[in-house]
Amino acid sequence: MELSEIRRLLLDQHTELRTIIGELEAAALRVAAGDSAAVRVVDASIQALATALAAHHAAEDAHLASFLPGADAWGTERAKLLRERHDASHAVMDAAVAEAASPAASSAARAATALSLATALREHMSVEEKYILTESLLRDDGIIVEFGG
Ligand SMILES: [Fe+2]
Ligand SMILES: [Fe+2]
Repeated sequence: MELSEIRRLLLDQHTELRTIIGELEAAALRVAAGDSAAVRVVDASIQALATALAAHHAAEDAHLASFLPGADAWGTERAKLLRERHDASHAVMDAAVAEAASPAASSAARAATALSLATALREHMSVEEKYILTESLLRDDGIIVEFGG
């Protein structure tokens, strides 16, 4: 697979993740506004997001983990960034999944968790798009232009 194709695939997955995050956020805001029935939508969206995120990170790790360290002078930092961001995202995602499965968690707590998860994952993708999934780094001619592209 060419680097430009890998970039396209991963950015398309970001678009899909942003769609699910948008649905999750909308449902969480409904819960926060008093619509308790929307809690089910929050929980379902959390599950959908966990599945999509796991698949996306498996793809990022498979395509980028071995490429990044040698990609350019900042390759080691880029690989470290990817690893740290994935670990951090998995931690917040796992906590949200556990809460969604817990009868003890209140609707308000679920909504708050969903909103902070949405913010964290959007930031995660923005950082990746700035430092890793750039056109200058993932180009088919292998010539790296600049850090942060
Ligand atoms: Fe990622
Ligand atoms: Fe990503």
